[in-house]
Amino acid sequence: MHPTTRRLLAWYEAEQRDLPWRRDPTPYHTWLSEIMLQQTRIEAATPYYERFLERWPTVEALAEASLEDVLGAWSGLGYYRRARNLHEAAGQVVALGGFPDTPAGLRALAGVGEYTAAAIASIAFGRDAVAVDGNLRRVVARLDDIDVVVASGPGARRVRGWLEARLPTGRAGDFNQALMDLGATICIPKAPRCGRCPLAEDCLARAAGHQAELPISAPRKAPRAVSAVALIARRGGAVALTQRPATGLLAGLWGPPDGVVDPGGDADAVLSALLQGLAPGCAAAAWPVGTVEHIFTHQHWRVRVFELALPDDCELAADLRWWRSEAADGPPLSRLAERILALQGGVPEQGP
Ligand code: ADE
Repeated sequence: MHPTTRRLLAWYEAEQRDLPWRRDPTPYHTWLSEIMLQQTRIEAATPYYERFLERWPTVEALAEASLEDVLGAWSGLGYYRRARNLHEAAGQVVALGGFPDTPAGLRALAGVGEYTAAAIASIAFGRDAVAVDGNLRRVVARLDDIDVVVASGPGARRVRGWLEARLPTGRAGDFNQALMDLGATICIPKAPRCGRCPLAEDCLARAAGHQAELPISAPRKAPRAVSAVALIARRGGAVALTQRPATGLLAGLWGPPDGVVDPGGDADAVLSALLQGLAPGCAAAAWPVGTVEHIFTHQHWRVRVFELALPDDCELAADLRWWRSEAADGPPLSRLAERILALQGGVPEQGP
């Protein structure tokens, strides 16, 4: 075994974090945790992980759940495409008679990319695969003092080569998770805690004194500004909600109707179209109640929110549904929808 690997594994045996999916790393537990941990911090994902297992203790139970229930249980965790993929992959696993046990087999499951396939194959099946994510790239960029971008291209290939040369046969799951823990607790992004690092003597960037300047990050694109209008239509204590399309941003989640205003476009025209779509042929006036700024991964939304009281003789369009906030079992709402709805009943603003 490579001496660096030996030091890393010894440290992991003593210091590893006690995480719920590590206690019984079955393929189902490992897969569920890895999907939840894509783009989500451990503290945020853990309560969801525990709740999902309580409700759906097996992949068969999850496959039998309705998509709506899975989306509802996922609500608040973000990146909802993952919940749809989770549900689809559960069905795939049941149809296959169990989880595939190789990285290539796992990659055929919805929502499982190269990193996730390697993580599950190594942790749950003991396969010799390196699971390289952004955290591991940062750790290796420092250990090997890589002074080029490691997110892709030659820098990423160098990271992979470094890891593969040190992968301990039969212990890839521990190796990958040890590096994840090192990246999360010691080799952290801004000010690495080299004084506590089990690999400090192996670290080429530390020897050169510039560990804090690595990794070199690729220039980041500014999020695209999106202007939108949303409409809170009320009747009594209920509001009208609509479901988003099955693909794209916030796929399948519910919220008040909204519309994007094209650059240079007319917000009033979008609002009129929303009113028409809400209750065709019905003349009702809406008033502005505020603005919500919401950041998605690559988009910065600025949503002007309007409210109206829908008269009793106005018929709601077929794709909308009345919802009462005090109802225990509502449709799954996006975080953006929750923020828009928080403005209802607010003080009307001046002019549209
Ligand atoms: N992040 C993703 N998967 C993880 C794991 N198994 N342990 C710690 N952090 C992780």
